[in-house]
Amino acid sequence: LERTLILIKPDGVSRNLSGAILARVEAKGYTLVELKKINATRAMLEQHYEEHVGKPFYEPLVEFMLSGPVVAAIFEGNSVIAGFRSLAGSTDPTTAAPGTVRGDFGRDWGLKVQQNLVHGSDSVESAEREIGIWFA
Ligand code: GTP
Ligand code: MG
Repeated sequence: LERTLILIKPDGVSRNLSGAILARVEAKGYTLVELKKINATRAMLEQHYEEHVGKPFYEPLVEFMLSGPVVAAIFEGNSVIAGFRSLAGSTDPTTAAPGTVRGDFGRDWGLKVQQNLVHGSDSVESAEREIGIWFA
C-alpha cells in the first residue's frame, strides 16, 4: 500500500489549522499511520529540500521551516501521493484552486517563500526518503 509523508508547515501549525487539514486527509479516506509535532533541525531540512539547494528561495525556505514546530504525518492508501497533492493544491496559494488546502486557507503574505501550509511527497522514491528523515 502506498505511503506519503505530509508536513503541516509552521504557518499551518501556528494558525491552528492542523486539525482541519488532517481532517480533510482522513475524510478523503486515507489512513493515518504515524503523527507527531516536531521542531525540524537544519540538518533534516537540508536533506528534505536537497533538490532546492542553491535556488534563491532555498535559504528563506529553510528559515521559514525552522521558525516554529511542524506536524509530520505518514498517511497510507491507494494513490495517496497523488491524492494528497491534489487535495493540497498548487504551490502558490494565490492561484491554488478553491476547495484545496492551499486555495482555501493560503494567501500571498508578501514574503520571500510561499507560506503554503503543507508539504506532500511527490513520488514513491521521495516518500521513502522523506519518511526516513522525519520518522528515523
Ligand atoms: P512541497 O509539497 O512543499 O514540496 O511543495 P511543492 O512540491 O508544491 O513545491 P516545491 O517542492 O517545488 O517547493 C518546495 C517549497 O519551496 C514550496 O512549497 C514553497 O514553500 C517553496 N517554493 C517553491 N518554489 C518557489 C518559488 O518559486 N518561489 C518561492 N518564493 N518559494 C518557492
Ligand atoms: Mg515538492
